[in-house]
Amino acid sequence: MLIRYKKSYEKIAMGLLSFVPTEKDLKKLRQTMKRYDEENDWQLFLWREEDIIGIIGVKLEGNRAEIHHVSVNPSYRGQGVGKKMVDSLHRIIGEKYTIIPAKQVSDFYESCIKK
Ligand SMILES: CC(C)(COP(=O)(O)OP(=O)(O)OC[C@H]1O[C@@H](n2cnc3c(N)ncnc32)[C@H](O)[C@@H]1OP(=O)(O)O)[C@@H](O)C(=O)NCCC(=O)NCCS
Repeated sequence: MLIRYKKSYEKIAMGLLSFVPTEKDLKKLRQTMKRYDEENDWQLFLWREEDIIGIIGVKLEGNRAEIHHVSVNPSYRGQGVGKKMVDSLHRIIGEKYTIIPAKQVSDFYESCIKK
């Protein structure tokens, strides 16, 4: 299930975010993490099964929520976890916000919503 990020998940969150191509640089990754920690319009969610295996992060702007980050633990990829996160995000915030993908997420997002 999709749960909201809290500070106690910081290490696992950073580990998952580090797989995102734009977050390979540690300095950039730390800046991103700080944003999700401190800025209300940046919101992060984690996918928890037995362990936490995925992450999805959005930037809220007006009535839009733009997905900027999505990552799944490599051992669990190709099993629909990414799609489940997108579907759950729609359920959690989709009434209030129109969910759109940032450029770097758009191909994946289109694959998720096409069916
Ligand atoms: C991208 C990522 C989150 C996908 O997670 P996943 O759990 O493997 O995805 P799913 O199994 O739910 O796949 C859902 C659909 O998206 C497609 N898809 C997966 N990764 C994709 C990508 N990078 N680009 C386009 N489509 C993609 C799948 O083929 C699938 O479509 P299908 O049902 O037509 O086969 C995962 O590969 C990852 O963590 N990558 C590293 C981080 C990253 O690159 N993030 C930014 C780019 S999105």
